[in-house]
Amino acid sequence: MAKQFDVVVIGAGPGGYIAAIRAAQLGMSVACVDAWSTAEGKPAPGGTCTNVGCIPSKALLQSSEHFEHANLHLAEHGVDVKGVSLNLDKLVGRKDVVVKQNNDGILYLFKKNKVNFFHGTASFGAKVDGGWSVNVAGANAEELVAKNVIIATGSSARALPGAEFDEEQILSNDGALRLPKVPKKLAVIGAGVIGLELGSVWRRLGAEVTILEGAPEFLSAVDRDVAKEALKAFTKQGLKINVGVKVGEIKKSAKQVTINYVDAAGAEQKLEADKLIVSIGRVPNTAGLGAETIGLKLDERGFVVVDDDCATSLPGIWAVGDVVRGPMLAHKAEEEGVAVAERLAGQQPHVNFDTVPWVIYTSPEIAWVGKTEQQLKTEGRAYRAGSFPFLANGRARALGDTTGFVKVLADAKTDEVLGVHFVGPVASELVAEAVAIMEFRGASEDIARICHAHPTLSEALKEAALAVDKRALNF
Ligand code: FAD
Ligand code: NAI
Repeated sequence: MAKQFDVVVIGAGPGGYIAAIRAAQLGMSVACVDAWSTAEGKPAPGGTCTNVGCIPSKALLQSSEHFEHANLHLAEHGVDVKGVSLNLDKLVGRKDVVVKQNNDGILYLFKKNKVNFFHGTASFGAKVDGGWSVNVAGANAEELVAKNVIIATGSSARALPGAEFDEEQILSNDGALRLPKVPKKLAVIGAGVIGLELGSVWRRLGAEVTILEGAPEFLSAVDRDVAKEALKAFTKQGLKINVGVKVGEIKKSAKQVTINYVDAAGAEQKLEADKLIVSIGRVPNTAGLGAETIGLKLDERGFVVVDDDCATSLPGIWAVGDVVRGPMLAHKAEEEGVAVAERLAGQQPHVNFDTVPWVIYTSPEIAWVGKTEQQLKTEGRAYRAGSFPFLANGRARALGDTTGFVKVLADAKTDEVLGVHFVGPVASELVAEAVAIMEFRGASEDIARICHAHPTLSEALKEAALAVDKRALNF
């Protein structure tokens, strides 16, 4: 007998589980189906983000940063530590505990909000009386029926043709988060967000890391000044980053992986490594969903086609997160999930893509919201820019971390903030103020006039805003 709900959500990643909770808060009867399992076959809601993405990568980044600090930086603070050694099992084990806390947290929230959770793989059946039919395959097979279905099936790592992931030698983000040993030589293809974050983790733990990037410019979507500063810092730390390469044949032997490539100067090169991470973007999870059964429109790359409100080509079917257009970010997925749930409840929500922040959790961290300077130039928009270096910020000096700067871009006439860019300590937290200002369509003068606590890193943002008007006080 089919179980009837107001809403069925497919996927319990940040897009799906948040949509399910919001819909339940708004009084709907909700089912959420998710296929992710622990090694023991238990449900592991939270999707890529919780299991093999945001959360475990940040846990490893934190632990590896502690290791690097103990080795390299504590002595500057007069803290002498001897015999620093790495316990990789414990480090990775701690990450697993953090992941499980998040899985359990979501199961708790489902109970609290009366979301009915089903563990298994969902696919569309034929349309039935009462709505869309969703079949759940797994140990407890079910048929669910709902007037509204939210697809939040996320994405998976894109493989390089001829170099499929084995998670032993050729690693996606999954294998790269659970290496049993620090590789002596680690190769990474793709100097994007994953390549830089996970490359940093293993470099800090002792690997010699070489990153091969196909694009001619490093971090081409990032503000040029920020990308330049970051490249300088990463290179100093020992990450070898080669841009403008063309990756050729990849060969595996029992002990190593060999990557043949042509470098930016056109010379044939060979990189030998113990392990290879391939981080060249992600593909949407739509295979097996039964899109063809119901005639759901996908684009040529497999993304579910949606409008600005996340409505698909079929009435009552919605899609959010990595499986649709736009940045593949957990917070973007969450905002869309909330918006769809609220729309189903008759509200008029809106997701502002112009104020979605980006963060790369390397050291220095990189964070930004809004337009880069090169985008404004391309658009022919008149702007004023102000920058402030962390070198001139008292808190950064006290921390012993003065790399980087803050840059504010504002409209030349109205002074509306158009973009804010950070490279430096704790940029991931600092960007929130810039997002708030931009969401309220504030001006650089607004930031400049707000009282910021002293001594804080956030004073660098205030100073950069003052610098837009050429009146920085401390630089
Ligand atoms: P997902 O999180 O992918 O969840 C989809 C869920 O649906 C999965 O549990 C999947 O098993 C399930 N599913 C799929 N098909 C079916 C089906 N047919 N039936 C049932 N269940 C199904 N983003 C950030 O914002 N910040 C970060 O720091 C960050 N770090 C990242 C680090 C790494 C290494 C990676 C890989 C990604 C990172 N991301 C980060 C991106 C972020 O993880 C994704 O943008 C986010 O998880 C997308 O959420 P989602 O709900 O759309 O999909
Ligand atoms: P990415 O899109 O960030 O970077 C991929 C890189 O690989 C690009 O620089 C691209 O030019 C390069 N590339 C593509 N094909 C190539 C080839 N054949 N040879 C060499 N280089 C090639 O993708 P990534 O790092 O895989 O991450 C996927 C997504 O996951 C990100 O776009 C992001 O949305 C999300 N993510 C977010 C994080 C965060 O918010 N901090 C952390 C990690 C991932």
